[in-house]
Amino acid sequence: MSAGYQAVLWNRQKKRYDLTILAGILLYIGLFVGLGAALRPEATPETLIIRAFGTLALLMLHVILSVGPLARLDRRFLPLLYNRRHLGVSMFLCALVHGAFSMIQFHALGDVNPLVSLLAGNPQYASISAFPFQTLGFVALGILFLMAATSHDFWLANLSAPVWKALHMLVYVAYLLLVLHVALGILQTERNLVLIGLLVGGFGWIVTLHLVAGFREKPGDAPHRGDVIDGYLHACAVADIKDKRARIVCISGERVAIFRNGDTISAVSNACQHQNGPLGEGRIVDGCITCPWHGYQYEPETGASPPPFTEKIPTFNVRVVSGEVYVDPEPNPAGQRAEPAPIRGSS
Ligand code: HEM
Ligand code: FES
Repeated sequence: MSAGYQAVLWNRQKKRYDLTILAGILLYIGLFVGLGAALRPEATPETLIIRAFGTLALLMLHVILSVGPLARLDRRFLPLLYNRRHLGVSMFLCALVHGAFSMIQFHALGDVNPLVSLLAGNPQYASISAFPFQTLGFVALGILFLMAATSHDFWLANLSAPVWKALHMLVYVAYLLLVLHVALGILQTERNLVLIGLLVGGFGWIVTLHLVAGFREKPGDAPHRGDVIDGYLHACAVADIKDKRARIVCISGERVAIFRNGDTISAVSNACQHQNGPLGEGRIVDGCITCPWHGYQYEPETGASPPPFTEKIPTFNVRVVSGEVYVDPEPNPAGQRAEPAPIRGSS
């Protein structure tokens, strides 16, 4: 949360996550280079390093793109989402090693500027077999750099959440460029069935996973229909909401998280101010709604983060009548107090 900025706040969970990433990277590179040297003695160390880091970066990108939809489909994947940005920065560093070694190997040994050699050395954009595929990798690396450089919450707060989110959606453009980078590059010179299978299978996996997760989400966006009393829309029964948990209902085109906090009901926007995490899938911890993605907290009645934090989300006025919850479809400004509705004594 944004009371002040520190470069990186490492807690035990993050340290364990980062050590696991580092161990995975070292294991993959060690195995790839070791096995590659044993099975293909003609391959130079530079080629093995380029291939090890290139394939690893693409593999990590597949994991990164899978984590979001997997967490939507099964809550057990949420811990992976918690620190996804560190995975993203690690993936960028691996891609950078691959790109830098490729630049040295293929462009730095002549008398032309390496960047000119990369971008203008091969103008055959109309050819499939001789397409300048490295340019695609270069553009993708540029996007990954932008994302890694702005991954800290400092940039999230300063760019504003919608701009930051739009920038980070470019990861899908980078992914498509990289699929083409490999399909028009190495797969044109080496018809390696394993690589083709992995690329096509990986692409199919990402597309299917996103479609399935989107399909599961769709009913949640269907406008809720119910009786209206004094302008308040019937949302659900109190009995449908477990204590400290929420029910998510789509009202006026926006998802509203209706929380039960002991003997009262409160409603807030379902979108966390951090990265739009689904607040209604979180719980109330220490009196605050706690986002299931990275743990941002909001008071149920004000939608404001507890001091010294400054995030705010819109609240909704609620009423409880005969054990049924009614919500005013008009949201209150972010951070404005809405009186919690008592469950008992409602008539
Ligand atoms: C400046 C940017 C880049 C350059 C100059 C570049 C260059 C290259 C070259 C020359 C190859 C063929 C290497 C060979 O014959 O073995 C290659 C392949 C590949 N690249 Fe890139 N690349 C760049 C960015 C990226 C990025 C950002 C990724 C992934 C995140 C990536 C992933 C791959 C993969 C998976 C392969 C196929 C395996 C291999 O041969 O290494 N590349 N790239
Ligand atoms: S989305 Fe990150 S804490 Fe809510």
